[in-house]
Amino acid sequence: MGSDSPTHPRRYDRYGRYILREQRLLFILIGIAIATAVFTVIPSTTTVLDPTTNSYTISKSSHLTTTNYKKSFNSYSNGFESSVNLGGKIPLGLKRKGLRIVVTGGAGFVGSHLVDRLIARGDSVIVVDNFFTGNKDNVQHHFGNPRFELIRHDVVEPLLLEVDQIYHLACPASPVHYKFNPVKTIKTNVVGTLNMLGLAKRVGARFLLTSTSEVYGDPLQHPQVETYWGNVNPIGVRSCYDEGKRTAETLTMDYHRGAGVEVRIARIFNTYGPRMCIDDGRVVSNFVAQALRKEPLTVYGDGKQTRSFQFVSDLVEGLMRLMEGEHVGPFNLGNPGEFTMLELAQVVQETIDPNAKIEFRPNTEDDPHKRKPDITKAKELLGWKPKVSLRKGLPMMVSDFRQRIFGDQKNPGATTTTDSSTTA
Ligand SMILES: NC(=O)c1ccc[n+]([C@@H]2O[C@H](COP(=O)([O-])OP(=O)(O)OC[C@H]3O[C@@H](n4cnc5c(N)ncnc54)[C@H](O)[C@@H]3O)[C@@H](O)[C@H]2O)c1
Repeated sequence: MGSDSPTHPRRYDRYGRYILREQRLLFILIGIAIATAVFTVIPSTTTVLDPTTNSYTISKSSHLTTTNYKKSFNSYSNGFESSVNLGGKIPLGLKRKGLRIVVTGGAGFVGSHLVDRLIARGDSVIVVDNFFTGNKDNVQHHFGNPRFELIRHDVVEPLLLEVDQIYHLACPASPVHYKFNPVKTIKTNVVGTLNMLGLAKRVGARFLLTSTSEVYGDPLQHPQVETYWGNVNPIGVRSCYDEGKRTAETLTMDYHRGAGVEVRIARIFNTYGPRMCIDDGRVVSNFVAQALRKEPLTVYGDGKQTRSFQFVSDLVEGLMRLMEGEHVGPFNLGNPGEFTMLELAQVVQETIDPNAKIEFRPNTEDDPHKRKPDITKAKELLGWKPKVSLRKGLPMMVSDFRQRIFGDQKNPGATTTTDSSTTA
């Protein structure tokens, strides 16, 4: 009988050790199963940096999904919060984390100033722009910054990005540009806004729409309060823009009510400042360029129609307060100081050339007679009001225009041939 015999005492020994070894394996497996069960049932812990106290608070969530993570970012007011998992690899004492923000239309006039502020605040910004009216020059000072990205993309096509906030500005804003291809304009407003809202829903981002005072049409109420529903021609030459923005507002509210997307709506009144397109036909850029080139200032109609003019830095401040605040809106963002076209022409004469001549032309179709924002709501709920007067803001725009027209010749083809005296 060999040593392999089951009756041999050494063989019992070996079997005993084998069983013990197997049991140890079994114990390990049971241990893993218990640990897994415990971690699944017990909520995970999240620390959130509260910007008001600048301290971490511990919150518990049973399952920290990507959406919850985004929402923890969004639930604070100044955009500098960070959410870290205590059990993860990110150590406590981590520096404040900036947000990831998409700015559609970020290479345009307003968008590029907004991007400057967001980058300065410490956020990471992705500009999405098809360069229809925007220009790389407006954002080129950020090239090489690891927190800045520029994507050539038309918002009419879907796009997937992981972000915390979406500022949706993409849309031509001047009558010359939005009337150039009206079908494309309404597509940008409707399909483009749908795509960006779809993105917001998918990644749990907060969405801000830049709507316009044009939603009030030729208003029968003056000044315009947000509760006023407007007086808009649905079949006019400006309808692609006016009705497009109205539909964009509708879509925004439907995504909010129906899909729980966090949204904000700004109704922007005439804004001016450096980086406006020189040849876009908006009244301030028109007058400034004409006065600088020693051409007559073209006033459409009798020049008694009124507008309010907001400096771009005031608007950007309002947009950021709206995005970070707790109120959906809509909010009027504009300067309530009211000027007739003739008064504006006079300010331009005072600022640039007292001898500049004024030339009257027939008015354009659907040109509203009066426009002036009531900003009570923004004052009360956002703590916002414009600070820069026309006489203070205009010289800043003039020096930018002077440099672009006569200086570096970046816009050598710029002309002032326009078909409208009003802006979006
Ligand atoms: N400036 C104003 O006085 C004013 C007034 C009311 C509302 N707004 C709104 O503010 C936003 C910005 O206006 P702005 O004055 O900076 O205009 P802008 O024309 O300078 O900027 C618009 C930007 O959107 C881009 N764009 C246009 N269509 C696009 C598309 N389909 N896909 C991707 N990018 C596209 C353009 O290339 C441009 O960079 C617009 O939505 C406009 O309607 C502006």
